[in-house]
Formats: sequence, C-alpha cells, structure tokens
Amino acid sequence: MVVLVSGAGSNLQALLDAAAEQGAGFGAEVVAVGADRTGIEGLRRAERVGVPTFTHRLRDYPTRPDWDRALTESVAAHRPDLVVSAGFMKIVGASFMAAFGGRFINTHPALLPSFPGAHGVRDALAHGVKVTGCTVHFAEAEVDTGPIIAQRAVEVRDEDDEASLHQRIKEVERGLLVDAVGRLARHGYRVEGRKVYIP
Ligand code: GRF
Repeated sequence: MVVLVSGAGSNLQALLDAAAEQGAGFGAEVVAVGADRTGIEGLRRAERVGVPTFTHRLRDYPTRPDWDRALTESVAAHRPDLVVSAGFMKIVGASFMAAFGGRFINTHPALLPSFPGAHGVRDALAHGVKVTGCTVHFAEAEVDTGPIIAQRAVEVRDEDDEASLHQRIKEVERGLLVDAVGRLARHGYRVEGRKVYIP
C-alpha cells in the first residue's frame, strides 16, 4: 500500500509496526508514503524505516488538477494495490479517483455518516453525542462518503475536550485501521452497493 499523510502519522506508524511485527502474516506492506506538506512527523516516520517518500504541496502547482495529476503519478509509480489516506487532509480530484477509486481507503475520527469533514471530533462534541468513534471506509469523490469497511465506538466523557476525545479515538482508530487493512489484504473484498464484504 501507499499511505498518504498530512501530520503526526500515528496511524501510518501503526501500519508500519504491524507489517514489521507480523511480516507476511499481516498481508500488506507500506511501499511508499506521500504527503501534501514538508517537515511533518509522518514523513520522518517513513524515512526512519527506509520507506520512500514524496511530497506534493498544492501551492507549488498552478491549478488543483495539476497537483492532483502529480500526486496520482507519484502514487501510481509504486504500483500499490491499496492507497490509504491516514490523516491526509486534502481532497483528491478526478485523476486520483480515476486511478485509485475502489482501492482508496480513508480513516475518519467519527462514526460516519455522522460528523463528516475536517472537524469530526469537534462537531460530535458540540452536538452533545454520548458515543462517537472512528470509521474506515472506501473514499469516493465526495468527502467522507463511500462504503464503510469497519467502525468502532468510543464513549464521550463529560470532561472531554476536543484534544482528549481525539486522543482516545486515535488509540482505537489505529487498531481499527490495522485490522481493516490486514483483513482486506489477506482475504480480499467485494463491494455491493454500499456494503463491503470481507470473506
Ligand atoms: C486521525 O484521527 C484521522 O482520522 C484524522 O486525523 C488524525 C490523523 O492522525 N483525519 P495521525 O496523523 O495518523 O496521527
């Protein structure tokens, strides 16, 4: 898989660790890491273990489709079976979806379809829900839609703020992502309408 990151990369680290610890038994390996910004911990995590990286900053391209084509080409160069958006905070475009639609997965820190978008944790907290969680799903052109692969619930505590709640969600999210990617890689999958079946 190729993993795309924009920040701390703790979800990426969980995938790197699973592949290192479980070897072939995990069923997947990270062949490259892509980013939309430089100087982030996510890139350093890849560099530390010798995984190739590439960065495409939107501001370095005249138009968004140009950026999208460059990103698509860099990912395609590694010939991945799966592409994982693990905290990648840019919306990809038509070229990317044409190349990787159906094998591009995203992790989101809320129980979709509730609280999509860049502030899923903050929005859940503001709504006053008692339970939120995380979702791993196939990404579609629209943000945070697409067939759901796996979800786990996390209780909201009275004393939570966005940071404390996001931290507890991320602990669960890392396990969920590793489990989902491993199962997809080892068993394959089929998507019927909105439903994902992993044999
Ligand atoms: C995750 O909660 C992801 O769902 C959200 O941003 C966070 C990324 O964390 N979009 P990290 O960079 O993997 O540590």
